[in-house]
Amino acid sequence: MPEAKIAPSMLSSDFAQLGAEAQRVVKHGADWLHLDVMDGHFVPNMTMGAPVISCLRKHTQAFFDCHMMVSAPEKWVDDFAKAGCELYCFHLEATQDPLALVDQIHAKGMKAGVAIKPKTTVDQLEAFEGLAEKADMILVMTVEPGFGGQKFMAECMPKVKALRAKYPHKDIEVDGGLALDTIDAAADAGANVIVAGTSVFKAEKPDEVIRTFREKVNK
Ligand code: DX5
Ligand code: ZN
Repeated sequence: MPEAKIAPSMLSSDFAQLGAEAQRVVKHGADWLHLDVMDGHFVPNMTMGAPVISCLRKHTQAFFDCHMMVSAPEKWVDDFAKAGCELYCFHLEATQDPLALVDQIHAKGMKAGVAIKPKTTVDQLEAFEGLAEKADMILVMTVEPGFGGQKFMAECMPKVKALRAKYPHKDIEVDGGLALDTIDAAADAGANVIVAGTSVFKAEKPDEVIRTFREKVNK
């Protein structure tokens, strides 16, 4: 299994201080920054787009893991590449031709991720032959996308387990409700990229939370 990457979700940060908030979690040991992009259409909430990400780029060299909770994700590939995003993760449910989209993302020099919502199955992902192999990362959502601070859905862990068994060397990310009382379930199932909003940004000691997550995944 690839090594742990802890990706604090900036959704739980103070958006008016995005640069300082990013630097704060990087100082506390974050490997990646998870940037939640919502369009008010694919999910019932709105956050940020490429202009904000390109401003943030000037404040940190951290790896940008962009989670695109948008309809028609193929529309924004160029803009996000220009904004300085390293990984463009789109939702399987939002596009007709995910294989072509992975190619489009790679052509712009970004890594490609495919996200699945809680009700989307591994079979639905694998119905697109070669997609899981081609993608650099698979994101198994552990809450319904749209908001931070929701309860972790342990019932999604069999999907993580099945994907880890099939793809031992791939980055498998979990997102939603990850905290000190849920990390064991995710780590045991085989997730190695851990997104955490509330549990990192609202922690008294974010460095300890990040370190614990990393130890649990790498154990
Ligand atoms: C939810 C987002 C998550 C969210 C996680 O749609 O994709 O990244 O910020 O927040 P927590 O860790 O608070 O559940
Ligand atoms: Zn996310």
